[in-house]
Amino acid sequence: MKVLEKPNMKKRSRSENRSVPEEDKREIPKAHRDAVAHLVKKKESMLAGGGESRQAKQRAKGKKTARERIHFLADKGSFVENQPYVSSRSDDFGMDKKKFSGDGVISGSVLIEGRQIWLTSQDFTVLGGSLGEQHAEKIANAQMNALKTGKPFVQINDSGGARIQEGVMSLEGYGKIFRANTLASGVIPQISLIMGPCAGGAAYSPALTDFVFMVDKTSQMYITGPDVIRAVTGENVTGEALGGAEAHNSKSGNAHFRCASEDECLTTLKRLLSYLPSSNREAPPIVDCTDNPNRDTGEILHILPDKANKPYDIRKVIDLVFDQESFLEVHKEFAASMVVGFARLAGRTVGVYGNQPIVFAGSLDKDSSDKAARFIRFCDAFGIPLVSLVDVPGYMPGTVQEYGGIIRHGAKLLYAVAEATVPKIALVLRKAYGGAYIGMASKALGYDRVLALPTAEIAVMGAAGAANIIFRNDINAARDPDLIREIKIHEYQEKFMNPFAAASQGIVDDVIAPEAIRQELVRSVEMMAGKMEDLPRKKHGNIPL
Ligand code: HXC
Repeated sequence: MKVLEKPNMKKRSRSENRSVPEEDKREIPKAHRDAVAHLVKKKESMLAGGGESRQAKQRAKGKKTARERIHFLADKGSFVENQPYVSSRSDDFGMDKKKFSGDGVISGSVLIEGRQIWLTSQDFTVLGGSLGEQHAEKIANAQMNALKTGKPFVQINDSGGARIQEGVMSLEGYGKIFRANTLASGVIPQISLIMGPCAGGAAYSPALTDFVFMVDKTSQMYITGPDVIRAVTGENVTGEALGGAEAHNSKSGNAHFRCASEDECLTTLKRLLSYLPSSNREAPPIVDCTDNPNRDTGEILHILPDKANKPYDIRKVIDLVFDQESFLEVHKEFAASMVVGFARLAGRTVGVYGNQPIVFAGSLDKDSSDKAARFIRFCDAFGIPLVSLVDVPGYMPGTVQEYGGIIRHGAKLLYAVAEATVPKIALVLRKAYGGAYIGMASKALGYDRVLALPTAEIAVMGAAGAANIIFRNDINAARDPDLIREIKIHEYQEKFMNPFAAASQGIVDDVIAPEAIRQELVRSVEMMAGKMEDLPRKKHGNIPL
């Protein structure tokens, strides 16, 4: 690089250096000064939002203001605001006297840990954060900028819903936002933080995004509120019980993260973003890893019980195997017989899903199939390799499941796995039975590498069930049916209830030593990293919804 020579400068004192050049001493024309003063005034009013008393009310509820939320998230000084002077075009129902700079939503771009995202933050202090035509235009504009630049989109919702004074134009505004959500789906990560009310059709934009966060006690989401429910069905329910963070995280599954406070919510968002690429054009970030990729994982033999029907917490296996403290669980309280989340293997992001033996023995039901399928599709869209941890006795039996459509819901998991073109690794820990085995670990369905521990049992069903069916006549004809049953169960166990029958057919790639699990998974993900697979050309598939 050529170094330019410095001109021979005479040393000056600091005050000399600061002296104002002659031309700058001329008076600035009054019109310019007035224009700048007008800008300052406009900025002040824009920054004031709905005014001090409404902001105090907001804080009294344990909520930050819309701007405080942005500044909490953004790397210092990185917020670039977009369209701060937009205001409502409506003059109906007193709106001519309620013109607010920004129209109740703040939008722009920030850096989080040095990476750019686009965001919008609804300001409840301005007309209750309600969504009118211009408010919606601002959100859609940020969404399209995120899509065009290939950067994540984050929306902070705190709104009374459609701005009633603006009538049908508010509804059109929602339509525009929903369409932008849909177009951006699978191209950029989209994340919603519900930090106040989010009622009526407004809840559908978060539902169209990839992840929804809620804050205990201060956020509520529902299509029809308690008053309408009471009027229509006579049912009495509070807003919190109906649409609070607990309801949507544990019952409906509409939310993926439940946070105790706004700080926790915003901090968890930052953590989530650290696993994700900015768009489907990029690879997920790789972080420095201090955890030895060959670390011994023999401890697993103390975690797995010796009997196939004894439960254990799959999270213990996840914590043991993946990079230390790297697991970020998604959808923690919903459909708890399946655990899903992001983790890292030697610094690479992976999507983990595993059966949870402490809930319904880890069986797949309609909700856990939905949960895994949606997570798998997110990972596939964004190039995140998948690791399936398998310990599953089958699909959950019963009329609740059958009438609830377990056939349709279970098919989603099969569809998602078969369609995913990212590296797919399965590790069979213990049981892998029946149709559930196919979804969790079948090479024929598309898993690239299937590993099994020596403790694995891969079969159509458990030995007792199998023996009762195929040896029914022998058992019934025996003088001591129980003894014969035991013998036949043992026979079946010897033949099929181990990983070697499957390994001899090539449907298990390798039976691995317990202490080498971490090493094998790290290697499997690394060796499949260059995977390229094309699906048949089509407009889009038709996943069973
Ligand atoms: C216009 C609204 C508003 C709305 C609230 N405000 N919601 N202005 N349109 N939808 C205004 C209030 O007039 C008030 O203005 C300020 O926001 C704060 O509201 P409060 O009621 O004082 O606050 P709070 O007691 O905290 O109650 C919050 C609330 C309640 C629960 C959200 O405001 C409420 O129920 N709002 C109406 C919700 C609603 O029905 N929305 C329409 C849903 S239908 P001032 O000037 O006094 O500060 C819908 C269809 C969308 O959204 C379909 C899309 C497909």
